[in-house]
Amino acid sequence: MFVSPRRVRKCHFLQICATCFILCLMIFWVPFDNDIVSHMKSYSYRYLINSYHFVNDSLSISRDNLNRVSSYQYLINHREKCQQQDVLLLLFVKTSPENRHRRDAIRQTWGNEKYVRSQLNANIKTLFALGRPTDHLQKTQQQRELELEDQKYQDLIQQDFLDTFHNLTLKLLLQFSWVNAYCPHARFIMSADDDIFIHMPNLVAYLQSLTQMGAQDLWIGRVHRGSPPVRDKSSKYYVPYEMYQWPSYPDYTAGAAYVVSNDVAAKVYEASLTLNTSLYIDDVFMGLCANKMGIVPQYHVFFSGEGKAPYHPCIYNKMITSHGHVDDLRQLWKQATDPKVKKVSSGIWGRMYCRLVNIVLLCKLYYVDTYPCSAAFS
Ligand SMILES: *[C@@H]1O[C@H](CO)[C@@H](O)[C@H](O)[C@H]1NC(C)=O
Ligand SMILES: *[C@@H]1O[C@H](CO)[C@@H](O)[C@H](O)[C@H]1NC(C)=O
Ligand SMILES: *[C@@H]1O[C@H](CO)[C@@H](O)[C@H](O)[C@H]1NC(C)=O
Repeated sequence: MFVSPRRVRKCHFLQICATCFILCLMIFWVPFDNDIVSHMKSYSYRYLINSYHFVNDSLSISRDNLNRVSSYQYLINHREKCQQQDVLLLLFVKTSPENRHRRDAIRQTWGNEKYVRSQLNANIKTLFALGRPTDHLQKTQQQRELELEDQKYQDLIQQDFLDTFHNLTLKLLLQFSWVNAYCPHARFIMSADDDIFIHMPNLVAYLQSLTQMGAQDLWIGRVHRGSPPVRDKSSKYYVPYEMYQWPSYPDYTAGAAYVVSNDVAAKVYEASLTLNTSLYIDDVFMGLCANKMGIVPQYHVFFSGEGKAPYHPCIYNKMITSHGHVDDLRQLWKQATDPKVKKVSSGIWGRMYCRLVNIVLLCKLYYVDTYPCSAAFS
């Protein structure tokens, strides 16, 4: 084939232009700091450098400041809640004063201690972690209602900080300092949002199997690997450079729901005392604490991220958590814990059927934020 020299030159020119463009992007990528570029930076950092030594120095607070980090006073507390010796799981639900209906739904479903004791033969303790009401006009009224609610159920743990999004790290500290003070012997500690669904029978069975293998050094959930900090000022998760300068966060589990063993809880608490708590994204802060102590999170495919799990018995059979359930919580609980669910997937044909169904439900060509495709094969 004959190619004219002019055409060759044109091709060259285009190539050079493209190369220049990419080089420019790489050199001046700070102004191009959009999502794609920050993810590229973040992944290259995560996979090429993968070192987070700075957690140990620049994010630590100086020794003189250590005493300053006194925790907030308890407004409502139950020191005796965990006195019983054999506690499999201490479950902390992060809630806000106004979310009474969510707490009630949780008390009747997956957070129900009596159900777990009688049906699953295990001891769990459910507590709700919250701060002070924020509404100027109604805060006294709201606080009184919280106290009445607590008299009835005895399951609120409240500290004297404003219950706001930017105080979520304080709520995290509340949980770990409470565990350290009053419940260090619980085998596992779980932290969960109040709009989550937890398949308690599956979770308890899983934790019991871990206990038999000597539950140590465990931090389990939906792992975010090498996420970049959000630099877009309009985002809820915006983090300024002064607060965090590096292109990626250490690995951490989504705050929606994760489980740690008691030794990890103790180490995270220890680290939290020495780190600067100004970073208000609580799950990232937890990642920094863990990183400082050399703890690595483990991915469990049936812990959900942001998304809801598909509604299907073959999913219920293995699911642990699913996110974004408020109004359908009671109904989902009834369906997912129905004994018939186990029957659907039992036997050779049941297993084959469920494998196929799960492949269809989870392995999509486009991205859906639910369980990964690999969950269908586990
Ligand atoms: C966090 O709580 C403290 C104590 O109540 C309060 O002074 C502060 O304004 C709160 N911070 C945010 C960002 O809401
Ligand atoms: C924590 O970091 C912030 C910046 O994000 C800084 O202003 C503050 O002084 C630091 N606090 C301590 C105790 O080092
Ligand atoms: C962090 O630094 C302290 C000394 O400042 C050291 O004792 C500790 O081992 C370090 N931790 C890690 C995980 O490197």
